[in-house]
Amino acid sequence: MSKFVFFGGKGGVGKTTVSCAYGLKCARAGQRTLVVSTDPAHSTSDVFDQQFGDDPKAVEGYENLWAMELDPDEEVERHMMEIKRTMSDQVSPAIVNEIDRQIELAHRTPGAHEAALFDRFIDVMRNAEEYDRVVFDTSPTGGTLRLLSLPGFLESWIDRLLEKREQSIDLYEKAAIGGRDPRQKIEQDPIIARLVERKEMFEFAGETLRDDATFFLVLNPDELSIRETRRAVEDLTEYDLAVAGLVVNKIAPEPDEGEAGTGATYLRERHRTEQERIRRIETEFDEPVVARIVQRVEEVKGDLLAEVADELAIDVTPEPHL
Ligand SMILES: Nc1ncnc2c1ncn2[C@@H]1O[C@H](COP(=O)(O)OP(=O)(O)O)[C@@H](O)[C@H]1O
Ligand SMILES: [Mg+2]
Repeated sequence: MSKFVFFGGKGGVGKTTVSCAYGLKCARAGQRTLVVSTDPAHSTSDVFDQQFGDDPKAVEGYENLWAMELDPDEEVERHMMEIKRTMSDQVSPAIVNEIDRQIELAHRTPGAHEAALFDRFIDVMRNAEEYDRVVFDTSPTGGTLRLLSLPGFLESWIDRLLEKREQSIDLYEKAAIGGRDPRQKIEQDPIIARLVERKEMFEFAGETLRDDATFFLVLNPDELSIRETRRAVEDLTEYDLAVAGLVVNKIAPEPDEGEAGTGATYLRERHRTEQERIRRIETEFDEPVVARIVQRVEEVKGDLLAEVADELAIDVTPEPHL
């Protein structure tokens, strides 16, 4: 299995639950494992009954297991402040307010949370030397994945910028910079430096996601969830990111044969419909179903989490690194 493992899927299907269960499975196999979650509503903190924050913290009661929680709102705020700071150093005070307003507007667009979180994902991936495995309880979706095509775009854009700046320096600044190489001066330009940094960051993300990451999608046996999963598979494959398998969660249990009350009749019917959908998932998707997890009466934590971990037919051994 790759070092970085992502579990994607729409809200409520069980990403956090499955990520924690898989994290536990890896930790039990002796891998130093970090679970990264992004959902402020129900997250690792609930699963492990322990508060987690922005920095990895050891999960009490388990060996080899760490967790951290990223808050999307905080990430957007942090992202916005950082950009404002970089920009305000570069522009005249007269337009700072207008630029601030534009930056705030940009961060209120629907993709902002995802984009800011993606930045943090990359950050975590870059600083994960001490872990054998990092499990993310959300995978980037179509909108975010588009950022992976940014390096190519930025590259030609930065080249053109460099060229333009070089020309203008040739014309107006040569006298001022004397014998210094104009290109060297341009490369010290803080805005260009920042663009180059962004480009390298997304380049790293693209390479790491393609070479060292595995994606799983979690879904429930209902039509909406199946449709969403199909779209997610398409998004990921469009960017050459292979989906290794599907986890079907929250499957209705089958009542015992003798039971004939209203509850049992409902459950039997429901179980039958869901089993049909699961068969459809198995035939219509190219990706294998790697787990079929029955809906429990209670939230999945403690011993139940260990049970679910055992139900995941997902490999934990690290890939040999060349
Ligand atoms: N197999 C299951 N049986 C019972 N409850 C489950 C199961 N899987 C998930 N849950 C519960 O459903 C809720 C949503 O699950 P969660 O893992 O937080 O979903 P997501 O992270 O995709 O939003 C949680 O309360 C969780 O405990
Ligand atoms: Mg979650």
